[in-house]
Amino acid sequence: MTDLNGKIAVVTGASRGIGESSAKALDAAGARVVLTGRTVSDMERVAAQLGNDPIIIESDLAPARAGTALAEEVLRHVEGVDILVNNAGIPMRRTPDLLTEEDFDLVFSINVRSLLMLTLGLGPSMAARGGGSIVNISSIASLRGPLGRVAYAGTKGAVDAMTRALAADWGPKNIRVNAICPGLIATAIWEDNRNNIPGLIEQMEDQIALKRWGFGDDIGDVVLFFASDASRYMTGEVVAVDGGMARVGAAPRPKS
Ligand SMILES: NC(=O)c1ccc[n+]([C@@H]2O[C@H](COP(=O)([O-])OP(=O)(O)OC[C@H]3O[C@@H](n4cnc5c(N)ncnc54)[C@H](OP(=O)(O)O)[C@@H]3O)[C@@H](O)[C@H]2O)c1
Repeated sequence: MTDLNGKIAVVTGASRGIGESSAKALDAAGARVVLTGRTVSDMERVAAQLGNDPIIIESDLAPARAGTALAEEVLRHVEGVDILVNNAGIPMRRTPDLLTEEDFDLVFSINVRSLLMLTLGLGPSMAARGGGSIVNISSIASLRGPLGRVAYAGTKGAVDAMTRALAADWGPKNIRVNAICPGLIATAIWEDNRNNIPGLIEQMEDQIALKRWGFGDDIGDVVLFFASDASRYMTGEVVAVDGGMARVGAAPRPKS
């Protein structure tokens, strides 16, 4: 049984989806969770389901210096942080002919710049507590070329590279840095496409070895693994949690 009693965990994008599931998994293991996101009412809904006196911090990670400001705000609420789940992110579906510089800046500001600046702001408090665990939520978009999402794929490739680089920098401080690449997880991020593109669900499922979309808790359980001592000798790893999609038989299978 994973025991995170006494640990402080920060989860960005904790108002729904994978962030909500991660917050619940960490709270159930005993951690006190700091929920961050833009939508306070949604975070209140999540907090009401947590048992360890959660903290809510409203934060938009798009503007310049938002990551640093959030780190400072977190450290006004708690003395230090043991676990950081960098989950907040936006998809940016744009074919190359439609992608603008503004689109590029927006997706990189949230998915990359603020992720790193928040991490750099909280790292020293982790080191002061003897170490910690950082879990970056990347995507299988960094592992295989997704159609119509070149900028998004670029952000997740950057997350993977920063995961490995920071693991090297902070390993001696006993701070572990790992990344999870979710596959198709049924969250709000997919809602429009799931509802509006006929046959999408079946077509996508056909590419997954386990033949189903994932759910938030499929990722939350792996976040918990990386947050806990069960993964104590792992750092700098980028792990797909995708039911067998990025690396397993991407082509449609013949019907038996
Ligand atoms: N679902 C998938 O299939 C999938 C696959 C691969 C990777 N991922 C990655 O998993 C992570 C979570 O995705 P999800 O599917 O759970 O998406 P989601 O349901 O849309 O949740 C995204 C979260 O990010 C927060 N967020 C969005 N823009 C923000 C901003 N400007 N500032 C601060 N927070 C912001 C949202 O909160 P507010 O709106 O309240 O701010 C929300 O809590 C993302 O990094 C995504 O790239 C998802």
